[in-house]
Amino acid sequence: MNTPRLGIGLKAFLGANVPADLASVLCALAEASLPVAHLIRRGSLGGALDAAVGPAHDGIAQTALDVFADKSFVHGLKGSGVRGVVSEERDDPVKIDRDGALLVAIDPLDGSSNIDANVTIGTVFSVLDAPAGAFEGGQFLQRGMRQRAAGLVVYGPHFSFVFTTGEGVRIATLDPDANEYRVLDRVPLIPAESNEFAINAANSRHWPGPVKRYIEDLLEGDEGPRRRYFNMRWIGSMVADVYRILIRGGVYLYPEDSRPGYERGHLRLLYEANPVAFLIEQAGGAAIDGFRRILEVEPMNLHGRTPLIFGSKGKVERIARYYREESVLTNESPLFARRGLLRR
Ligand code: F6P
Repeated sequence: MNTPRLGIGLKAFLGANVPADLASVLCALAEASLPVAHLIRRGSLGGALDAAVGPAHDGIAQTALDVFADKSFVHGLKGSGVRGVVSEERDDPVKIDRDGALLVAIDPLDGSSNIDANVTIGTVFSVLDAPAGAFEGGQFLQRGMRQRAAGLVVYGPHFSFVFTTGEGVRIATLDPDANEYRVLDRVPLIPAESNEFAINAANSRHWPGPVKRYIEDLLEGDEGPRRRYFNMRWIGSMVADVYRILIRGGVYLYPEDSRPGYERGHLRLLYEANPVAFLIEQAGGAAIDGFRRILEVEPMNLHGRTPLIFGSKGKVERIARYYREESVLTNESPLFARRGLLRR
């Protein structure tokens, strides 16, 4: 049997390879994730983690674990050089250190609907430079291409701290014996080819035309225009889908749709789409909102939503082409926008 390699401790890795200001905030985030990871690992022994607590936030009930994770990260960032935090769990941004030079946008607990089911959940974060001037929420409204770092914590069968500072993607795995993340030498590049796609098919009747057309092509498998079989995977925790796509390739779609409240999709630009897009691009993939590269989208407000499509580059480019073709056909000649006429 091969002896597994023991990776470098995350702190030591960050100290040697990453600018000091980013190393400080990444270490603080990794540290803050440990009590969250511990609680998740204990499952129902740690209490009813999925219990609704406090008032509903943006129409969705906050769970005990959402609140615990939010407090752990906000508290853990104190003293790490961060001026303020915007969290999915709070309407308003929180001031941390007046002299901090960085901002953090975070979804402390992604995939809350999976807590009771013992399915992978996670944390998503984005790190930006704090502009000059006293702290205020408008400082977070920067395009994703200005992110200095981004990452995920994946609480799955094993726990991983996945991050980028703009020089590829690294994955650190939690060593449960030492309670420390270790960086192994694997730097994933998203495979260009994959048979997997991820979308919530329950919403298919509400999807926009280009997404309907793309998924219909895949579902036709080897009898359809793609001439091969595809497999669907939808976990319901974006972090888990991101992790799988980093490792195995594929594509994830949460498009805009015709349900009230979903006109701009479901995911948040600042602390879900932007960090994921940064990671995915750093791993050789692509991320768009249908027409635009996610990292170029101008945020309009702190909790604004965006359609999100990311994964293997060729797949994302194909979907972007379907969007362009549909917009040309529907704008110039709605008669020709029927699916059969759009086939290659
Ligand atoms: O709110 C974020 C999120 O839970 C993602 O983690 C997940 O991919 C998606 O929403 C699931 O949404 P739905 O329940 O509509 O399929």
